[in-house]
Amino acid sequence: MKRFVVLVSGRGSNFKAILDEIQKGNIQGEIVAVISDNHHAKALDIARDAGIEAIFGNAKSEEYPQWLLGTVQSYEPDYVLLAGYMRIVPPEFVSAFPQRIINIHPALLPSFPGLHGQRQALEYGVKISGCTVHYVDEGMDTGKIIAQRAVPVLEGDTEETLSARILKEEHQLYPAVVKMLAEQE
Ligand code: GRF
Repeated sequence: MKRFVVLVSGRGSNFKAILDEIQKGNIQGEIVAVISDNHHAKALDIARDAGIEAIFGNAKSEEYPQWLLGTVQSYEPDYVLLAGYMRIVPPEFVSAFPQRIINIHPALLPSFPGLHGQRQALEYGVKISGCTVHYVDEGMDTGKIIAQRAVPVLEGDTEETLSARILKEEHQLYPAVVKMLAEQE
């Protein structure tokens, strides 16, 4: 059974989508800890309610990078899943888990990396956007792509309406990728 550690900063709807599939028995894996840099993250409540270790890490502390690395390592994860984690992971972290850190981004990478992928897509005027699950490397949303879903941008879309349409696809795509990872050797 593959072990997953999830890093979050907020709402946690992608984490929840993965958790639901695990609980339904559709993914043969276990989320062994959820770690947040935001004390108020709803994701921490979701984890606690599910009996998963929910840990807050203070990113303002100088020791945060080493703390995060040591804490994640202590859970011996097969994969580290970033799910709305709003920080760049430091190079030492990336090299500690080669090809083992995964992220979801709300745009079709390599277009619109960084913050507000949906807003960037709207401002550019693209007619198709979507979401991307990719490996994490030292760059900002630059790692190798694992899977993508396309989502149409509709006339009259706002950042909210487009984000909601993309999020629905995120909730399908991320669990599907985690299932694939769980089934790999
Ligand atoms: C998602 O749009 C994800 O693509 C991006 O941050 C958002 C997180 O949402 N990286 P949630 O916390 O999973 O609800």
